[in-house]
Amino acid sequence: MPTTSSTPSPARSLSARLLLLTIAFVLLGEILIYVPSISRFRKVYIEERISAGHLATQSLEASTSGRVDRQLEEDLLNHAGVLAVTLHTPRARLMLGRLPAVERVFDLRAATPWTLIVDAFDVLWHGGERTIRALGPSPQDPGLLVDISMRERALWNSMVDYSWRIFNLSIVLSLLTALMVYLSLQLLMVRPLRRITESVIAFRDQPEHTDIALKSSTRRDEIGVVQTELANMQAGLRQALAQKTRLAALGAAVSKINHDLRNLLANAMLLSDSLDISQDPKVKQIAPRLVESMERAAKLCSDTLNFARAETVDPQKRRFALKDLVDEVIATIEGQAGLMVRWRNEVDESTIVQADRDQLFRVLMNLGRNAQQAVQGQVDGDGAGLVSFMAWQSGREILIEIADTGPGIAESARDHLFEAFAGSTHPGGTGLGLAIAREIMRAHGGDIELDRSGSDGTAFRLRLPMGR
Ligand SMILES: Nc1ncnc2c1ncn2[C@@H]1O[C@H](COP(=O)(O)OP(=O)(O)OP(=O)(O)O)[C@@H](O)[C@H]1O
Ligand SMILES: [Mg+2]
Repeated sequence: MPTTSSTPSPARSLSARLLLLTIAFVLLGEILIYVPSISRFRKVYIEERISAGHLATQSLEASTSGRVDRQLEEDLLNHAGVLAVTLHTPRARLMLGRLPAVERVFDLRAATPWTLIVDAFDVLWHGGERTIRALGPSPQDPGLLVDISMRERALWNSMVDYSWRIFNLSIVLSLLTALMVYLSLQLLMVRPLRRITESVIAFRDQPEHTDIALKSSTRRDEIGVVQTELANMQAGLRQALAQKTRLAALGAAVSKINHDLRNLLANAMLLSDSLDISQDPKVKQIAPRLVESMERAAKLCSDTLNFARAETVDPQKRRFALKDLVDEVIATIEGQAGLMVRWRNEVDESTIVQADRDQLFRVLMNLGRNAQQAVQGQVDGDGAGLVSFMAWQSGREILIEIADTGPGIAESARDHLFEAFAGSTHPGGTGLGLAIAREIMRAHGGDIELDRSGSDGTAFRLRLPMGR
């Protein structure tokens, strides 16, 4: 019983999952960009303060006394955004302001990308409460070392501002990207997939309905290929189904006709018995042929009825000696036909097979009877035609070969050899023997093949798994 499924709810749909994944990935990407950029932001900020500090000390260089008055000093320091600056020149040390007590000293000359990242988060963590010192070369003259002291508050404020900007931008960016990805996926994948899913479900419920058929796609990508292949498969299946339904109806009708025909023939055969006692030479001549024809017709009817009724019964496997079975087959055919055929059972006594004995008997009977029909009446230098049975092991299989010295398989029979009702060339043959043999062998996990066929004879080969 197939389980019922339907298209998923929007929350569990592919597009919803992809939407969330896209947002997550874009945010992750933004974080990866944010970490180095916030460290760079802090470095640039400090360098700007160092540069401003250096500029402020220029007024000291300009004054002859090397000092400036207090008010100017305060203005200069405020302008530069620092508490104190010391400029280390090769000749002297120039200083503005008084060195405050500091909690951290950062030397930009020794900074690495990693320490810059750590220091940036250190600033954010301390909330701008610290007073720090920073040393670095002056951007105006890299040969000069500038040492500044400053409060971290302004740096912290700018960094928080910057982080907020990045955060908001990330949110907008990820939403925009996710929306675009969502829409394109929806258009390119989800909608066609949903159409395909709905069509599969509809097809499962009503495979014969043509108006729910999926159309072939003009797209040349994977989805297009899936859709086209599925459309072709549905069309093929629909056709096969229609044909099967027609055949089933036809089969039922044929069975009914056959049934009645067999009864009529049985009646006719009963009546024809009275022809035997007739003294009319003409009647005596045609009576046996008439009876033979009716017997063939009756066999055709019952074979067809049996085939129509046959249910594939699982093989009841057991282990037995193949040689004995072949002996039985030969004895049965000889008993029925009793004509001039030489039989050879070359199967080794030790060959044990695992199979349904009755079913394998049927297979060997069909093949044996075909071979017997092929060599019937053949007489050459060696005497009558020969049918031989052989068996040997190959890997995990037993191979059984039935070979005859007959004239080979007729061209007209070859193409449909294993198809029911299709390959018969025998007068009175139904064309079921090989089809049934194949069905049985396949149910055993093996198969039947035509090994060779020519003017010097025919050989069929059975493959039978050995089992455990
Ligand atoms: N050993 C053989 N040598 C030559 N032709 C063969 C041989 N075995 C099968 N054939 C050909 O294959 C055809 C199909 O064989 P199959 O056993 O399926 O049907 P059938 O013998 O015609 O009818 P039945 O259903 O009564 O067996 C035969 O009619 C015959 O032409
Ligand atoms: Mg046959």
